[in-house]
Amino acid sequence: MNYAIIGSGNVGAALARQFARSNIAVAIANSRGTSSLAPLVAELKGKIRAVDLSEALVADIVILAVPFPAFQNVAQTKTSWSGQIIIDAMNRREKVSGPTSTEVVAGEFSGAKVVRAFNQLPAAVLASDPLQDGGRRVVFVSSNDADASATVAELARHLGFAPIELGRLDEGGRLLDFHRPLVLHNLIEHKFEG
Ligand SMILES: NC(=O)c1ccc[n+]([C@@H]2O[C@H](COP(=O)([O-])OP(=O)(O)OC[C@H]3O[C@@H](n4cnc5c(N)ncnc54)[C@H](OP(=O)(O)O)[C@@H]3O)[C@@H](O)[C@H]2O)c1
Repeated sequence: MNYAIIGSGNVGAALARQFARSNIAVAIANSRGTSSLAPLVAELKGKIRAVDLSEALVADIVILAVPFPAFQNVAQTKTSWSGQIIIDAMNRREKVSGPTSTEVVAGEFSGAKVVRAFNQLPAAVLASDPLQDGGRRVVFVSSNDADASATVAELARHLGFAPIELGRLDEGGRLLDFHRPLVLHNLIEHKFEG
């Protein structure tokens, strides 16, 4: 399984830091090209790889960390995303009735399994150590594809988070469809003995 992050701003860099912290290989791309990523690669001591967008787009799991309106530009780069998982870490700015934003995204990534995750935390919190006060920071995961949801939950676990799967996008996933932080953000899971 290989991973790529599209976007190297607040959220893309936060996720890159978590991959580096967990020693999980990841590629990262943005719109300006690999040279603009050199400072982040250096900061993370070469544990992440700067790539061109074209290379990032073929990863098994592609994480979208771009401004919501830009997802269509990414989606239109290929006619089929079959066999790939797209993680939607984006938030739509405006409140819109009807399908959730991830359902809108899924409609444009033909053939992909689309999973919403990592969008509920402010970027600074997402970047910080998920191990907190003896517990692990919760991230929520939602998809219409149960296997893809489980795969992304497993990734979140490997990154040190405590994933909670919310089920389908149009059911539990609606809890993640907001345009500002909710009470859901920044929960810590503690395991108690006995
Ligand atoms: N900021 C937060 O606290 C937060 C928290 C949760 C979720 N979110 C969501 O996460 C997404 C990203 O937010 P952000 O704050 O990280 O944004 P940001 O700092 O503005 O970064 C956006 C990144 O997307 C890249 N990009 C834009 N269009 C692109 C394209 N067509 N192809 C490839 N890369 C492209 C930009 O590339 P360049 O660097 O080359 O310009 C930049 O690296 C948004 O949807 C936001 O709603 C944000």
